[in-house]
Amino acid sequence: MKKIGFIGIGKLGLDCAEVMAEQHEVRGYDIYPRTSDLVKVCDIDELVNESEWIFIAVPTPHAEGYDGSVPSSHMEPRDFGHDAVIDAINKVNSHAHDSKKVVLISTVLPGTTRKHFVPLLDTRHQFLYNPYLIAMGSVKWDMVNPEMIMIGTEDGDWNGVAGELRDLYDTVMQNNPRYEIGTWDECEAIKIFYNTFISAKIGLVNMVQDFAMKIGNINVDVVTTALARSTMRIMGPKYMTAGMGDAGACHPRDNIALRWLAQEYEIGYDLFDTVMHAREIQARNLAKFLIDHARQHALGIVIHGKAYKPDVPYCIGSYSTLVGHYIKQAGFEVRYLDPLADDSTDVVTNLTGPAVILWAHDRKITYEYTGDQPETEPYCEIPAGSVIVDPWRKMCDITGLTVIHYGNTRTK
Ligand SMILES: NC(=O)c1ccc[n+]([C@@H]2O[C@H](COP(=O)([O-])OP(=O)(O)OC[C@H]3O[C@@H](n4cnc5c(N)ncnc54)[C@H](O)[C@@H]3O)[C@@H](O)[C@H]2O)c1
Repeated sequence: MKKIGFIGIGKLGLDCAEVMAEQHEVRGYDIYPRTSDLVKVCDIDELVNESEWIFIAVPTPHAEGYDGSVPSSHMEPRDFGHDAVIDAINKVNSHAHDSKKVVLISTVLPGTTRKHFVPLLDTRHQFLYNPYLIAMGSVKWDMVNPEMIMIGTEDGDWNGVAGELRDLYDTVMQNNPRYEIGTWDECEAIKIFYNTFISAKIGLVNMVQDFAMKIGNINVDVVTTALARSTMRIMGPKYMTAGMGDAGACHPRDNIALRWLAQEYEIGYDLFDTVMHAREIQARNLAKFLIDHARQHALGIVIHGKAYKPDVPYCIGSYSTLVGHYIKQAGFEVRYLDPLADDSTDVVTNLTGPAVILWAHDRKITYEYTGDQPETEPYCEIPAGSVIVDPWRKMCDITGLTVIHYGNTRTK
């Protein structure tokens, strides 16, 4: 049993600490009051001195307006904020009585660790960069079933402490994961470009959806399913269903921050801007489609699901609010249905009359990779006469309602 400490026990850190606590003695420290049945929440001095391993999972926030829930491709590119990581490192330095193994989990742009963090850490400590591929709503499952575990060291070689971290993870993992060793900078790059590949993939399949809507006689699923099966040259089927755009606390903001990195290193072009710009126009196209139907039927517009995905409260980086932004920009009102949403602006709990409803949340699409999942239940009774726009094309015909499969313009 190892003694482990987590600095920053928020959305990522707490669940990860609790997974570790099933096998090890785990403490947690946070600047906000947190509670846990499995992790001992304590002050920073106890955490540092009672832990052999110290994981840092504090935020590396992007400035306001850079999360992807509203348009940002016109804004000046910016790096993430590093203050909380610097504060955590300073606290380890000032409280530690002996040498520690410090593991940074927080997402940062390539080059950041070497430039901004390692020079601050006392040389008696050892440092690893170890970002996670984890999504909200399935943090604990993702933690023990990762696609890979990235371990970054100064020179990219397995050194003693990197091997020890692998041994530590082997005590909690369920899927015998692949380990990728690289320099700090390479692991920063693997993590953040992984997210960019996903954003680009979603941007491409949603582009096919846009063409399906304009050309006619095309069901986007026929096209993307054929492409998804093309494993000889293209790749696997995940993220090959057109629908809502890429969203959440990580993917949009990572691309938005990479715009800054492209500028900083004078790359000469900005592919990230293109990916994010496409995402915004795809949202605007969907908003326009909803407005056209609202006008045609003289109904208001409702988005079913405000958080960036089902089962979580987080509205950060939400594609629903990006679509909502364009609806409002065109002079229309938008309401949201979402019992969990952590941002209650324009959220209603039920509908008194029919509406044009964007079916943004689909549990099966979002969580099917963790096993069989039940359908999303409506968040309230849907009034007869409503028009449901399903961007995932999964909803069957329902008596009294009109169901439109956005992205399928076949006539039969
Ligand atoms: N949430 C995810 O799914 C996810 C996935 C992969 C990577 N990440 C990365 O992990 C990091 C943390 O993300 P999160 O979603 O858990 O953020 P979060 O804001 O939910 O949690 C961070 C926690 O750190 C605490 N904190 C802030 N400053 C602190 C300080 N100086 N000392 C101690 N505690 C401090 C906050 O109070 C909060 O509880 C970010 O860099 C994020 O990009 C998150």
